[in-house]
Amino acid sequence: MATPCRLIFAVAVCRVYTQPAPDEPGCELEEGCTASFLQTTRSLKASVAEKCGHLTNGIGDPTTFFNNNCKYHSRQEDCMRPIQDVMAEHEIDGYCYFNATAMYISYVPDDVSFVEAAAAAILSLRATSSSPGETYRGESTGPEAVYNFEGKAIYTHIDVSHYVYDDLYAYSLGFLQGQGIDVRLMDNSSAWEALSREKCDEIQAMYNFTRDDMILNEVLDMNMPILAMSYCAANIELPSFLQVPYVTEKSNYTSKLDCSPITRREFARHHYMKCLLGYRNSAMDMAYLVSRACLLDDGTSNLKIGHLSECPYAPPLA
Ligand SMILES: *[C@@H]1O[C@H](CO)[C@@H](O)[C@H](O)[C@H]1NC(C)=O
Ligand SMILES: *[C@@H]1O[C@H](CO)[C@@H](O)[C@H](O)[C@H]1NC(C)=O
Ligand SMILES: *[C@@H]1O[C@H](CO)[C@@H](O)[C@H](O)[C@H]1NC(C)=O
Ligand SMILES: *[C@@H]1O[C@H](CO)[C@@H](O)[C@H](O)[C@H]1NC(C)=O
Repeated sequence: MATPCRLIFAVAVCRVYTQPAPDEPGCELEEGCTASFLQTTRSLKASVAEKCGHLTNGIGDPTTFFNNNCKYHSRQEDCMRPIQDVMAEHEIDGYCYFNATAMYISYVPDDVSFVEAAAAAILSLRATSSSPGETYRGESTGPEAVYNFEGKAIYTHIDVSHYVYDDLYAYSLGFLQGQGIDVRLMDNSSAWEALSREKCDEIQAMYNFTRDDMILNEVLDMNMPILAMSYCAANIELPSFLQVPYVTEKSNYTSKLDCSPITRREFARHHYMKCLLGYRNSAMDMAYLVSRACLLDDGTSNLKIGHLSECPYAPPLA
């Protein structure tokens, strides 16, 4: 294929927007590269969407439960570098650049509303429930669990198994309804993204993550261990299909009596990855988390997490 990047006018554009990945010819998009200086930033951004990362084997990495597909990804080498360094080289959304590096990282065009996208995420996670054979039956129909989290007892119902992770993750980040976030701000995308940015800055001020803490490959590899450590905090046995070295080694999981409970820092690291990949993505995470659950005051000193109809805000699930 011709290499339109050689055209003098387009060189700067190509450098900025289309760093060739190892397995691609440089600058393959005619549109992005042969255009003159008249091309607007807007249409450049549109062409960038076509430069999103992709899987090279078509399916990803089943040995990681599709939580880290870097091994079969067009941006494999950049997975091994600090996210900050990679993002500094590309004026492109991180979920586009690293699209499909994990099953929960997929680029969606930026005109989707947070309210709608959060509702869609709730339904889609419910449908693809993470344990074989489980079905969602409604609020508080799942087994009760009590997290022992950093000295506090927190009650919840595991209505779908991903709740084990998401309930505590949201609580830990302060992203449950009732923890101070104004849910109405979700209607205003720029305000919601600005709020996310503030939260990201607070996380970094608190944990001071280094560039080495933020190598995508490693952060992705912690996701299943985070799930195992969340099970540990809930004192629930990790489902047997997850008792494999990929999950148990980095979480130190032996049994529910011999395991490491999840920490705030590890949850924060996971969220901060999304901050670094673009505030739209961390904002989406926050929208999903605040839409699905709340911290309830049951009049005792116990902390209780409620979901959906048990909460003040109702996402548009219908
Ligand atoms: C993201 O990657 C998947 C898997 O390779 C691919 O099917 C999809 O088209 C990609 N999305 C974009 C926006 O390029
Ligand atoms: C949305 O929020 C921004 C601040 O981020 C504000 O300037 C703007 O007026 C808000 N828009 C609406 C429609 O409220
Ligand atoms: C954050 O960590 C860096 C080293 O990674 C260090 O130089 C810096 O002083 C730390 N900042 C704070 C506020 O702890
Ligand atoms: C797992 O155990 C090792 C050795 O005791 C320790 O260094 C590491 O921090 C533990 N990991 C977690 C996630 O608790």
